[in-house]
Amino acid sequence: MSGTLPREALVVERLEESPDIFTLRLEYLDEDHRKAFAFEPGQFNMVYLHGVGEVPMSIVSDPADAHCFDHSIRPLGRVTEGLARLKAGDRLGIRGPFGRGWPLREAEGRDLIIVTGGLGCAPVLSLINYVMRRRDRFGHVTLLQGVRQAHDLIWRERFDAWAGQPDTRVLLAADLAMGDARFHEGTVVELFSQVSLVPERSIAMMCGPELMMMAAIAQLRELGLGDGDLWLGLERNMACGNGLCGHCQIGPLRVCKEGPVFRYAEIADYFGVRGF
Ligand SMILES: Cc1cc2nc3c(=O)[nH]c(=O)nc-3n(C[C@H](O)[C@H](O)[C@H](O)COP(=O)(O)OP(=O)(O)OC[C@H]3O[C@@H](n4cnc5c(N)ncnc54)[C@H](O)[C@@H]3O)c2cc1C
Ligand code: FES
Repeated sequence: MSGTLPREALVVERLEESPDIFTLRLEYLDEDHRKAFAFEPGQFNMVYLHGVGEVPMSIVSDPADAHCFDHSIRPLGRVTEGLARLKAGDRLGIRGPFGRGWPLREAEGRDLIIVTGGLGCAPVLSLINYVMRRRDRFGHVTLLQGVRQAHDLIWRERFDAWAGQPDTRVLLAADLAMGDARFHEGTVVELFSQVSLVPERSIAMMCGPELMMMAAIAQLRELGLGDGDLWLGLERNMACGNGLCGHCQIGPLRVCKEGPVFRYAEIADYFGVRGF
C-alpha cells in the first residue's frame, strides 16, 4: 500500500458513463506497484492531479482485475474538473488503497439488501459487481436504487443485467418517473413497502445522501434488522486520507481509517447528529 507519496499511474482508457460521469481505467507505471496493488470493494484511493490537488475516489472495479483499476467520477470542483480533462495516455498520482471496505466475508451465505441513492451508486458499484461475479456465494439479493429523475440512472444496462440474475430483485425509484414504468414514482425509501426479509439471514449495505440512509435505517429496523447488520458507506472532506490529519472525523472515528464503511452500531451516536 502506498501511504504518503503518490505513485504514478497511466490512464489506459476513458469511458463516458453519462453526460456528467466518466470512468478512468488506470494502471500503475511501475510493474512492482502494479503487482502489489490489491484492494477490497468499498476502499478508496487518493487521486492526485499534478499541480492541482488530491481527492478521495472509490475504486469501482473488481479486485480480481487488480492489474488495472477504475474510478468513476462526477466533476464538481477544481480537482474533479481537472480529472475530467484527462484522456488515455495521460498520467496522474495515486495513494492507496485506504480505509475499510464492505463486510463481504460476513455477508457470504446471507441475503443482501443494497440501498443506494443518486451518485451513491458509485461506491456500491464495486460491491454489486463483486456479488454478481460470485453470485453463488450469496443468498437472495435485493437492490434498491433511487434517483431524482428516471433519466439520471447511470449504468442502466448493468441494472437490467443484474435484474436478470438468479434470485435477484432490482427495485428502482425516481422522484420523477417521467413515464418510465420500471420506476416507482417517489423516494427509494418508499420501495421498502415491497421488501420482505428474514432478519437473522439478512445484512444491509447502503450508500448515498445521509438523510436517505437515515430513513432507510429506520425502515430496515422496522423490518427486524439489528444495528449490527446495517452497514453504511460515508463521505467526508479528506486531506491525508490516511488517518493523520483529523479532517474526516465523525465523533472519535476517522472516515478515512475506521471507515468509509461503518457498521451502524459503531456510529449510531454520531450519525445524523448536528455538529458531527
Ligand atoms: C471516501 C470517498 C469516496 C468518494 N468516491 C467518489 C467517487 O467514486 N466518485 C466521485 O465522483 N466522487 C467521489 N467522492 C467525492 C469526491 O472526493 C469529491 O467530489 C471531490 O473531493 C471534490 O473535489 P474538487 O476539488 O473537485 O471540488 P471542490 O472544489 O473541493 O468542491 C466543489 C464543490 O463540491 C462540493 N463537494 C466537495 N466534496 C463533495 C462531496 N463528497 N459530496 C458532495 N459535494 C461535495 C464542495 O462543497 C463544493 O461546493 C468520494 C469522497 C469520499 C470521501
Ligand atoms: S483525511 Fe486525514 S484523518 Fe482522515
